[in-house]
Amino acid sequence: MKNKIIAGNWKMNKLQSQAKQLIEELKPLVKDTENTVIICVPYTDLATAVELTAGSNIYVGAQNCHWKESGAYTGEIAPSMLKEAGVEYVIIGHSERRTYFGETDATVLARTTAALEAGLKPIVCIGETLEERNSGKMEEVLERQIRKGFETIQKQQLADIVVAYEPVWAIGTGVTATDQQAQDAIAFCRSVFAEMYDKQTADQLYIQYGGSMNDSNAESLLGMPDIDGGLIGGASLVAQKFAAVVNAYKK
Ligand code: 13P
Repeated sequence: MKNKIIAGNWKMNKLQSQAKQLIEELKPLVKDTENTVIICVPYTDLATAVELTAGSNIYVGAQNCHWKESGAYTGEIAPSMLKEAGVEYVIIGHSERRTYFGETDATVLARTTAALEAGLKPIVCIGETLEERNSGKMEEVLERQIRKGFETIQKQQLADIVVAYEPVWAIGTGVTATDQQAQDAIAFCRSVFAEMYDKQTADQLYIQYGGSMNDSNAESLLGMPDIDGGLIGGASLVAQKFAAVVNAYKK
């Protein structure tokens, strides 16, 4: 099995002073892990995070970026701006952006492409709603999100991409997918990538689970063969909890 990639998605939380405190607490707690540790922070915390994580094993990510390099796009941030700021990862297509900000599979693809061109590593989110799952459409939805969201992504670019399977019904609800539900959905996603690219590429692709993952359920989720890591919301806001997730898995 691969080492895991554990990313915290702080969402719209943490003032700079709070970010500083959280990062300082986190650093010693995760320093011995062989897993990859990422914190995806609000734009206003990026400079603080880059400065405080320098020389540590923690990578910094943003939570979105635009698909254009520059121009009249008030309120947007270009991938090159993130890159210059020392950011290495960027979350793309989170369900909250799809739900509240009109994100589509086409804009996900545009943002992912631009992020890759700027030298960032996209964490591309996919996942079905409860209604879609209950009406038997889970696989159809995931397959559409993958085929459209990766339509023009080349095989060699997948090495720089992390996929996050986040069932919308498990995000921020305290309802975690069972180990088997998460495993089955991610194995299905991997089979779609194998059809689009090839089996070896799909096997090497990192696919995380996200949705109420925390210090109590991380060990068993991360023990499932297809789950290559976690995208952690609420539990990433507390250093001890996030560190427990990071340290839950040892190869
Ligand atoms: P929670 O861990 O708070 O459910 O959030 C998951 C998520 O959306 C991470 O991107």
